[in-house]
Formats: sequence, C-alpha cells, structure tokens
Amino acid sequence: MQENLSEILDSLRDKFENIDTCPFQGERVFFENAGGALTLKSVSEASKRYAAIPDNQGRANPASAELVNIIAKARADLRVFFNCEDGQIVFGESGTELLFRLISAACLGSQSGKVLGSSFEHPATRSACIRWAKIAGHEYINIPHNSETGSVTADDYAKYLTPDTRVATVLHTSPVTGMGVDLHEIIKTIREVAPQCFIIVDGIQHAAHGRIGIDSYDIDGYVISPYKVFSRHGYGVAWISERLTILPHDCLVGGPEGNWELGTRDTGAYATMSKVIDYFEWLGGHFIDSSDQRERIVAAGNAIHDHEKSLTEAMIFGTGNLPGLADYPDITILGGAENPAREGLVSFWKDGFDSAELVQALSEHGIRVHIRRDDHYSGTILTPLGRKDCIRVSMCHYNSVHEVARFLSAIKVITG
Ligand SMILES: Cc1ncc(COP(=O)(O)O)c(C=O)c1O
Repeated sequence: MQENLSEILDSLRDKFENIDTCPFQGERVFFENAGGALTLKSVSEASKRYAAIPDNQGRANPASAELVNIIAKARADLRVFFNCEDGQIVFGESGTELLFRLISAACLGSQSGKVLGSSFEHPATRSACIRWAKIAGHEYINIPHNSETGSVTADDYAKYLTPDTRVATVLHTSPVTGMGVDLHEIIKTIREVAPQCFIIVDGIQHAAHGRIGIDSYDIDGYVISPYKVFSRHGYGVAWISERLTILPHDCLVGGPEGNWELGTRDTGAYATMSKVIDYFEWLGGHFIDSSDQRERIVAAGNAIHDHEKSLTEAMIFGTGNLPGLADYPDITILGGAENPAREGLVSFWKDGFDSAELVQALSEHGIRVHIRRDDHYSGTILTPLGRKDCIRVSMCHYNSVHEVARFLSAIKVITG
C-alpha cells in the first residue's frame, strides 16, 4: 500500500492528456483546473469510440443493447461515486443548465415563500434563483458571505432562515476563493428551521477534490460538471431526490414517469463518466486493501485531499529555499494564508502589480493561471474586498510540488 499520492505521481500523471504540454502553447504547468480540469486519456478514447456509433437506444440489435448497458453502468457507477441509494441520476447539457432546471422545478413546485442563497455562490445558481423566485412568486434572499474567510457558514444561513424558506441553495466549494463549506452543518441548520425546503447544492468545483457523500447530506439536488472532474465538455450530471423527481418538470407528454432527461443523450457522456469513476477506483486501490468500489473511491478522495493540501501549503508558505506567496508583504491571499477550508486553489493579488500583466508574465514562464475580475462571475466575491481583480491558481492532485516550485521561482523573477 502507498502512504501518499506523490509516490505514484508519475504513473498517475501518465493517465492524463496534455499533462505538461499544451497543443497550442507548448510546455506548460497547468494551474487552471478550476477553468477545466485535465482530461483522462481513457475519456478521450471512449469519446472517440462512442461518437462513431450511429445506433440509438432501445432497439433490438447488439449495438443498441451495448449502449443501454453503458448507460446503466454509468448510472450504477455514479450511485457509488455520489453514495446515493435513492433518487435519480440525470444527464443534462451542462452544470449551469442543470442548476437552472432543478431550481426552476423547486421554485415552481413550492407554495409562495422564500428562496435563500448566498453571495458566495456561482452566478449559475444565483441567476436561476433570482429568475425563478420572481416567476414563482417567491422572495429571493441573499446571504452575504464572509469576505475575510472567503466562505459562508451555518451561522450565516441561520440569520436569514425562516419557516417559509421553500428553496435553499448551497455552494460546496468556491472556484474563486477556493474554500469549501461545512455542508452537513449548513443543511442541518436549514432543516431545523425549514424541514420541507428543497435544498440544491452546486458541487461543480468540489467534485475533482473527491469525497462526495450525498446520502449523508439530506438534500434534494447535487450538480457536477464532468469537464471539471477529468471528463470532457458537452454534458452535466445531477442527482435529484425522489421528492424533487416527482415535481412537475419539462418532459414528454405520455413519456416514462419521472424522466428528467430530454431527448437522445450522447452515450459517450455516460461512458466517459464511468471512466472517471474507474480512475478514482484505480487511484484509491493504492491506499486501501479493499475491492469495494466505494471504499476505494473514498480512499482516493482522502489521498487527493492530503496531496492538494501539500501543494497549497507549498504555494503559500514556500518550498525548499523558495519563498511562498505569504512571505511577500505586498501579496494578499484571498481568505487568508491559514485557512483549513481551502481546496486546492489559491487566489491572490500583489500591490502595485497589474493582475492581467502578472498572468501574462507567468504564461511567458510556462505557467498557466487565470485572472478573476469583478464581473458577473466573481464580482460578488471581489467587490466587497474593493478589488477589481485577482489571480487564481487552481491546482489538482496530478500537480506536483516541483510545479509549485516552478511557479514560485517565476513569481520571484517577475516581481523581482
Ligand atoms: C461552482 C460552479 N458552478 C457552476 C459552474 C458552471 O458550470 P458549467 O460550465 O458546467 O455550466 C462553474 C463553472 O466553472 C462552477 O465553478
């Protein structure tokens, strides 16, 4: 058994496409995982294979039977990955589209009351809540998040909860601050005041960091975007509870009861999702002596968490003789240097330095990061801090401390 993930980093990195080379830029360190994680080689192979198959499901021929098996396997794999016994798995167009669909059904399916969300959330959730609360005759309530910690807590929710809260939304991990929330505490707090409320969770940034356990959350919806968890673009995945499933929703008149999937879906989407879950299982098998799929997935999540912590600590506090971001007096780290809620991501700015120029300079050193601006994506996080922008460095478990060192050397050279 391996002790930690760095012991198998080479074989693990070999499973990903474009791990250290961009087909358009050449050699580079990829620290833009919150914009879209690297794709597994098994995913691109499965995409190609199923894209070439013309057959449809539900026909009496071997190709059709195989497609049905692939879809059933992906649903079964996702139940283990999510750890959910009941409810259903829905494949949709994207994370944003699924959040809109779940939230609209929950808003329209509830008697008039309140819809509660927070400024911590991605605009996909906030926009869906604002739009559908109005259409359904609810009041939308925004909980201000804590700018100092870059997160939101159960206590923040408690201040705004009322028994007529019909829909509540929670972001599991922020793609701007990098902080996760205490989902169990937040959900418990919501249920204490509004037990029947529909609770929808955006797990899109969290999924790549492992450790999802829907059965322990007591929620009604959980959404992920496969391109942010080692699969590819073109589809989204949601889990929905049984009571959300039976609410009125878009579907074909006379079609199968409770079906939320619209039209003919791409079998390659299901096949690639299974490849992602196979990967988690393979990874976890290095850390636990068990053939149980769930136990291996959990072990993978724990190893990912520990490795990503070592990466963010190196980035913030330095590695070898290289100073970390916290060692520069004119660098501010969003959410603070010491923050146990951090999941693989560090956002920062440097006084007197233009963030866009710093992103460009890092690119010239072969380091890919991204600027976040006070626009409709990140304004709710940056505006309260009085910031126009910041630099986001988003890492994943396949990154190495060596890559962090390359980043820190580049920062040292650029900022002189
Ligand atoms: C937390 C979060 N929610 C929602 C989205 C939107 O997901 P999609 O691009 O699949 O629509 C993103 C995308 O980065 C995200 O990070």
